[in-house]
Amino acid sequence: MHLTRLLHIQNPIIQGSMARISTPALVIAVSEAGGLGVLTTTGATAESLQQDLKTIRAATKKSFGVNLMLQQPNIAELLPVLQADPVPVVFTSAGNPAPFMKELLGLGTKVIPVIPNVKIAKKMMALGASAIVAEGLESGGHIGTETTMALVPQVVAAVTIPVIAAGGIGTAAGVKAAFALGASGVQVGTAFLAAEQTPVHNNYKQMVIQADDNGTVVTGTGGDRVRGLKNALTEKLLATTDPATFEQLSRGSLQRAIEGDVDRGSFMAGQIAGAIHEIRPAKAIVTELAKGVPTIIEDLF
Ligand SMILES: Cc1cc2nc3c(=O)[nH]c(=O)nc-3n(C[C@H](O)[C@H](O)[C@H](O)COP(=O)(O)O)c2cc1C
Repeated sequence: MHLTRLLHIQNPIIQGSMARISTPALVIAVSEAGGLGVLTTTGATAESLQQDLKTIRAATKKSFGVNLMLQQPNIAELLPVLQADPVPVVFTSAGNPAPFMKELLGLGTKVIPVIPNVKIAKKMMALGASAIVAEGLESGGHIGTETTMALVPQVVAAVTIPVIAAGGIGTAAGVKAAFALGASGVQVGTAFLAAEQTPVHNNYKQMVIQADDNGTVVTGTGGDRVRGLKNALTEKLLATTDPATFEQLSRGSLQRAIEGDVDRGSFMAGQIAGAIHEIRPAKAIVTELAKGVPTIIEDLF
């Protein structure tokens, strides 16, 4: 089935969840523009999630998604909200959605895990996932180990559910490339950091649009590798070998970036930042990305 039909959206353009950033303002703007806005629940409580859902539903009748980042300590507190008041789509990341996947699907919610490799893609399909996001290491935020270019066709070959490509896509040409690799849609984070409606300090947006092709760097190790814009903080993180110092520098650093602290913030962003040159309304970003969607998408399913 086409992704647009599966998710009830006009364009197969998904705004990837961004921790503490993709709050209702951005979600509403992207969904109203014909893409799929995805709400972050990082730092949310059951009450704040209920309020965010109310805000989104009051502002748009369009489809939207909610991200459950499964390393969050309070998933058990947030799940009942999504069970009592089912949402169109749940994107899961950084963990295994098996304990609640069947139940959400039974409520009519599409469940789409973000995956970093073929093995996990197959596992998620076996669990009944509606689609998957294959995310390459070009992306901003927490990253896996494979590139989008190599990962997407291998995942497409391994599963029979729609594959959404993510990581390094922020232009119409990138969208075209993702479809050429067999993807049924794209998930985009970094390009939306520069949307007018994105609730981050102007310093964050300026750093994104001023970044060049080698403007990002990866800090951390193992499952905690994070890609962000180079600044004084990333230099310090790369210089330290002491885990306690690393932890101390990192704690609260995304929030500091959101508030515009250019030296002490963690400005998570992906390699495509070098191709993002202006702050624009979310609608203009969705419209430009949609130019890369083939006019006739072969129905693979
Ligand atoms: C600032 C930032 C925060 C992110 N936070 C999350 C998150 O909380 N959960 C998640 O699943 N993905 C997160 N991501 C990944 C995005 O949802 C998306 O998959 C990724 O940005 C796509 O790659 P791109 O940055 O090259 O567009 C984040 C990305 C960025 C840039």
